[in-house]
Amino acid sequence: MQEEIVRHYASLAVPRYTSYPTAADFTPQVTPTHMSSWLRQLAPQEAVSLYLHIPYCRQLCHYCGCHAKVARRDDVIDNFVQDLLTEIHLVGQHLSSRPQVKHLHWGGGTPSILHAQQFEKIITALREHFDFAPQMEHAIELDPRTVTAELTKVLAAQGVNRASLGVQDVDPEVQKAIGRLQPLSIVKQAVDNLRGAGIERINFDLIYGLPLQTEETLRQTCQSVREFAPDRIAFYGYAHLPQRRANQRLIDNAALPDADARYAQAAVVRQCFTDFGYEEIGIDHFALTDDPLAVSAREGRLNRNFQGYTDDNCPTLIGFGPSSISQFWGGFAQNISDIKQYGIAVREGRLATLRGHIMRDRDRTRADVILALMCNFQADLNKLALGVDFSDEMALLRPLIADGIVTVRDGIVAMSRQRRQLIRPVAAIFDEFRRGNVHGFSFAV
Ligand SMILES: C[S@@+](CC[C@H](N)C(=O)[O-])C[C@H]1O[C@@H](n2cnc3c(N)ncnc32)[C@H](O)[C@@H]1O
Ligand code: SF4
Repeated sequence: MQEEIVRHYASLAVPRYTSYPTAADFTPQVTPTHMSSWLRQLAPQEAVSLYLHIPYCRQLCHYCGCHAKVARRDDVIDNFVQDLLTEIHLVGQHLSSRPQVKHLHWGGGTPSILHAQQFEKIITALREHFDFAPQMEHAIELDPRTVTAELTKVLAAQGVNRASLGVQDVDPEVQKAIGRLQPLSIVKQAVDNLRGAGIERINFDLIYGLPLQTEETLRQTCQSVREFAPDRIAFYGYAHLPQRRANQRLIDNAALPDADARYAQAAVVRQCFTDFGYEEIGIDHFALTDDPLAVSAREGRLNRNFQGYTDDNCPTLIGFGPSSISQFWGGFAQNISDIKQYGIAVREGRLATLRGHIMRDRDRTRADVILALMCNFQADLNKLALGVDFSDEMALLRPLIADGIVTVRDGIVAMSRQRRQLIRPVAAIFDEFRRGNVHGFSFAV
């Protein structure tokens, strides 16, 4: 009976809540005019985070759900970098101050596709408009297959101090099934190169729920990962949406674990890393106990943004590059995803904003409740949403209370310890945009 219940909630299609509202609910209500006024309104010396989206890869992995395209020719990447530089200066012209950058994150795609002069030009352009804080966290997502000793020296020279390596899985059969051949020796070389260049903070990105994975193969993957002692591990559940992502149609549906197996796999991963001495951070994330992410989780300062769990508490994020999302107190603004259209916009001197969401007070209240649930597994409605009528939400929570997934006492909604993995369906109850619309999302676990 208990298993039936878990199966039901774990197989629901719900967002990951890296923002509220989620990007799926953005609309064309947000225009370059909004983006411009949000940039202009930033206070002098305000602390901000920056995100740079590099949308290219040398080849596409079957499982990939990111905004990424193949670039086989170098001139394609060169032209993109020109457009990115144009966008940085364009955004700079809309600022009325020099914000201080606390976090800078390169994502993609594969940022390591860039060469030394391209990195240098982009950083120089950013420094024209922003002050980099002395302790700025400068993080980059790297495909281990591209992490040469030369690249790590370039990154270290640019001040990069944290690297996320896409490891995914170390099992050769799983790697074949996901179109990502990457022997463990390559991961080892990448880690050695990073540490050799002085980039000591290392994250590993892995995925469960992939074709051919079993509890046993995952146990072995966890053992292999442990040898490298990464500071942080993100172990995502595979988001399989082949109707949206043509590359995922190369994945054999029949080889995918079902909802039960995924739930069991997530439990194996949790068990392994907690046994190895890692602290569990929210869902799907782990960190060494002295890592700043674990410290902020213990101190109740954990946050969640488009990169997942973070200790970054800047309320403002400015995104550059196609599909990137900016976040301001006033709302979210997402750039055009189409790389060509993005380039045309910035070359014509237009901000590349295409859509977003203007935050209303009621969105901010729900965002606070959802963030508290996702980060702390509980939300005190009397503190976060005093006076808000949540009677519909309470009615929707009733079956989950009866199933022992959640409790509600004195206005505090709290997940049961053993059922924390089911936080996404609980968060979705407080999502005004989700009522009767759960299409286009992946499994809750
Ligand atoms: C932008 S990608 C990684 C950077 C780099 N290109 C690489 O592949 O190593 C960020 C991470 O998202 C995760 N990811 C990508 N597609 C996913 C999917 N469909 N479901 C779950 N996680 C996914 C992978 O772990 C990947 O390493
Ligand atoms: S996982 Fe990384 S390398 Fe593979 S397609 Fe996605 S962004 Fe590119």
